Amino acid sequence: MTKPLKVAVAGLGTVGAGVLKLLQQNSDQLAARCGREIVVTAVSARDRDRDRGVDLSGIEWFDDASAMASRADAGVVVELIGGSDGVAYDLVKESFRVGRHVVTANKALLAEHGGELAASAEGAGVALAYEAAVAGGIPIIKALREGLAANHIDSLYGILNGTSNYILTEMRESRRDFADVLADAQAAGYAEADPSFDVDGVDAAHKLAILTSLAFGTQTDFGAVLVEGIRNISLLDIDFAEELGYRIKLLAIARRTAHGIEQRVHPTMVHREAAIARVEGVTNAVLVDATPVNATVYQGPGAGEGPTASAVVADILDIASGRRLPTFGIPAGSLTPLNAADMDKHTGVYYVRLMVRDQPGVIADVSAALRDEDVSLESMLQRGRSPDEAVPVVLTTHATLEAAMKKALARISALGTVVEPPCMIRIEE
Ligand code: HSE
Repeated sequence: MTKPLKVAVAGLGTVGAGVLKLLQQNSDQLAARCGREIVVTAVSARDRDRDRGVDLSGIEWFDDASAMASRADAGVVVELIGGSDGVAYDLVKESFRVGRHVVTANKALLAEHGGELAASAEGAGVALAYEAAVAGGIPIIKALREGLAANHIDSLYGILNGTSNYILTEMRESRRDFADVLADAQAAGYAEADPSFDVDGVDAAHKLAILTSLAFGTQTDFGAVLVEGIRNISLLDIDFAEELGYRIKLLAIARRTAHGIEQRVHPTMVHREAAIARVEGVTNAVLVDATPVNATVYQGPGAGEGPTASAVVADILDIASGRRLPTFGIPAGSLTPLNAADMDKHTGVYYVRLMVRDQPGVIADVSAALRDEDVSLESMLQRGRSPDEAVPVVLTTHATLEAAMKKALARISALGTVVEPPCMIRIEE
């Protein structure tokens, strides 16, 4: 047998401990698959005394992750610290400097510094592997980089954040409001350390920026992602969506258009019968439209110890077997700058919910604002009757230019009878 592959792990939270357990529990099977043993020789974490349920005896301990990269007896560094900069970034750069392969689950790091890190890894002649960074246990990186390598990818979309999908599912099923359900998600351990990354769409946007690079051969460009989260989605919108035949999902979408590549994360109404509408709870899913294969669907657990450790260990196995591809499927120098589409030029269908004073002339004023901006209505409905309280008015449009929709909403917001900012949700047909 070839000599063992030695691995150093930085970060011993849920995922780090899960990786150690999986490497220990499945060691024979893993060795059979790659023809050599995989042994963890070094670890680094904040608290040395915490009981993580894994045996650390015989493993060298480092308080400083970067020092571990340069001094540990290991060919691979597994980065499970998180964060786009700081310790994680320094560790990865140091690992490349000293010629170690890197496996990471860090989507923020890849989204913010993907092109630069891909070039550094290439320069050092080592792997930068990150299957665990996007959609946890779903092998979507391999699918895009290898399985679909012969295709021209037209678009991809999916549910890339389990926490927000869980919240939307629970709100609908248990009829509880956003804050209440978020507390549950945090208690269940799915939410990011900063839950605003989940509910404000940032986590999904990080993952989307990575998938976009793989799909279109572009530099990661997180700054070009349109990001809107789910904080403003109310039970009212969830109910209206059902009534109109839709379900609300936080979708991440990347697609080629005539005016560039769109990258967007926002609450989206999808047909209740569509496959994506039925992806519930913390499950993730990605749908890819490519030529000549057509539509393919990938679905599974997007977070948690087992799924994330499964992806990390798959990357370690690739390295142990000597399989290494360019980080984003093509040499770093061939990645092109992302030609970002201007969302003002996007044409789509929109749902708008207004809270208005229930008095004569309100609908006429709203209709006039839409007419003046050339927005064509598909439907309008009002519920309730209350001279004292605001009542909801919901409208859906025909295909409309986003710039026109924004102008119409600005006019509508300025009406004295509209009592709170409109809630606008894009509908994907
Ligand atoms: N917080 C993420 C989610 C999991 O809820 O999907 C890790 O990427």
